[in-house]
Amino acid sequence: MKNASGESFAKIILIGEHAVVYGQPAIALPVKSIRLTATLTADSDQRIQSSFYAGSLHGAANTNFAGIADLISALLKHFHASKQGFLLTIDSALPPERGMGSSAACATAVVRAFYAAFDAPLSRAQLLEWTATSEHAIHGNPSGLDAATTSADRPQWFVKGQAPVPIQFPKNGTLVIADTGIAGQTKIAVASVADHLATDPAQTDASIEAIGMATVFAAKALAEDDLLALGEQMDQAQTQLKALGVSNEALDRLIQSAKQNGALGAKLTGSGQGGCMIALATDPTHAAHIRRALRDAGATATWQYDFGEERTN
Ligand code: PMV
Repeated sequence: MKNASGESFAKIILIGEHAVVYGQPAIALPVKSIRLTATLTADSDQRIQSSFYAGSLHGAANTNFAGIADLISALLKHFHASKQGFLLTIDSALPPERGMGSSAACATAVVRAFYAAFDAPLSRAQLLEWTATSEHAIHGNPSGLDAATTSADRPQWFVKGQAPVPIQFPKNGTLVIADTGIAGQTKIAVASVADHLATDPAQTDASIEAIGMATVFAAKALAEDDLLALGEQMDQAQTQLKALGVSNEALDRLIQSAKQNGALGAKLTGSGQGGCMIALATDPTHAAHIRRALRDAGATATWQYDFGEERTN
């Protein structure tokens, strides 16, 4: 094994979360300014150093890191190197449990680092297979959207069970991302939608379908460079996410503040019940104004993502 590293990005779901678990499409984008790096160096023990977990590989069982630790053990087995000593250092700028895909980003970077360390070629399909296994262990019933996006370098159109398709974003438009500061657990939020479906199937099905429709119209708006229409679809999706019970007071407050400050659309992003929201601004100056308003309304951190940046990448 040689020293090597792997990288991945934060992800933002533009539209389609939760409905994507039930076969509807979603649009998500990697945020390349917020990254995670996994670095492997030779060591006599099998050790991990990260903000998620620090200690021996063996000691990670029954911790929040158990899913990634299982992935590491499986990778070592795959390379016939179960006894191989290593130090795995994970540097992450992604806030955990905020709907930015930190667990999928971590799995992606770890798989890339091990493949690089063993000088093995890694196809995108293989990468997604590895990350799907670890995301299943961590989240229960994930759609695969997080893994597909944190490992991508372009926005993605995603349908569960199908290969993700890169999509072109317009030249203009800026997304503001704001953190409520409240941890949201994907597994719990996804389970709460499943509960809604069991108790009120007609209404819940209607919401899931409406989110799917909003996603289709959002893709059309992106293709036509129509930010107003995109904003409307984001608002539509938020109405339905609220009906599914995955918004909360902190998210609602930030969404309302963004709209009052001229956002073309605003919604939660990721699994909700905490985590982050996104707002669509016309340009970077408008976005800066919305960011200030969101901080005043209680956001603990804000970021900005210019659509034009993607075009040049
Ligand atoms: O909160 P996150 O970033 O893990 O996003 C989850 C997205 C969901 O649609 C709610 C679940 C999924 O697996 O797609």
